Amino acid sequence: MATKGNAPTDAHRSEAAGTDLLRQLEPAVVRLMDRHLAAARDWLPHTYVPWSRAEDFDGPLRGTPWSPEQSTLPRAVQDALVINLLTEDNLPSYHFELATRMGRDGAWGAWVHRWTAEEARHGDALRGYLHARRAVDPVALEEDRMLHVGAGYTNEQPDPLHALAYVTVQELATREAHRNTGRSCGDPVGEQLMARIAADENLHMLFYRDLYAEALVAAPDEAVHALADVVCGFEMPGTAMPAFRTRALRVAAAGIYDLDVHREHVLRPLLRVWDVMSLTGLGPRGQRAQERIAAHLDRMSATAERFRRLYQRMRSTEESLPGAGAPTGQGDHRV
Ligand SMILES: [Fe+2]
Ligand SMILES: [Fe+2]
Repeated sequence: MATKGNAPTDAHRSEAAGTDLLRQLEPAVVRLMDRHLAAARDWLPHTYVPWSRAEDFDGPLRGTPWSPEQSTLPRAVQDALVINLLTEDNLPSYHFELATRMGRDGAWGAWVHRWTAEEARHGDALRGYLHARRAVDPVALEEDRMLHVGAGYTNEQPDPLHALAYVTVQELATREAHRNTGRSCGDPVGEQLMARIAADENLHMLFYRDLYAEALVAAPDEAVHALADVVCGFEMPGTAMPAFRTRALRVAAAGIYDLDVHREHVLRPLLRVWDVMSLTGLGPRGQRAQERIAAHLDRMSATAERFRRLYQRMRSTEESLPGAGAPTGQGDHRV
């Protein structure tokens, strides 16, 4: 919105157009939320935690301190679990961002609050699992949580359309991260929990994905442009956490989440469902955005190929890490 005496800037115009679009999408929000509520299955986080394997820790209960050999999970899975949990832990910041962008009232407000309530289960259940299984150092985990949540998270997307594109990609990326971590953990209890969380993320993704399909119809040039910006500059929301890069490299080297996963199981399926690359009738801005997306996918393939051998070496010597510049799939997509 332009202030009195100032000419509206491009940023102001984009924000105002985005806000209009959010209002225009409200009937779709109602419909997709009804669909979401019909599909979502309520579940109880405490029933997924293997309490029978737990024992007291040192501290007020004078139990057994944690030590590394107690964890039976592979190192890369431990890293993935810490990344996934600390990312879920920043839910208060995500709620603030969404509620500020989309609104706290009406259909958008109902969605934001419901989404927040569902997301809160993920951190609860994951932390319970990690503690019960003594999977990672609980003291370091808590120290990292304080640093990460204490720093907060700000979504830098310039307008509501970009924010909507971002959450669509992010929900699908998060589904893949949880599901692949579960498949790699070698523990049926852990796999069951992470599959359960991934099912939630899938429904969140479907809500945003099909809403974005409406945006592509309502404002095709702007929607493809926003999508290109998001795809070409994507980073997971947890990249600012302590030791993110080191952990994400091990996760990538283990194949849990790397550039191939991001390209083939996140970006391409979304682009296919929306038929973005075949959209016709776009103006110069939309056509340029299609070209940017195509070029980015090509660069991702070339970069993934370059680093494949490096990751093979890392897998054979678990502790070694590559030099600067190796992509992780979660935070280095500006390839
Ligand atoms: Fe989540
Ligand atoms: Fe989610």
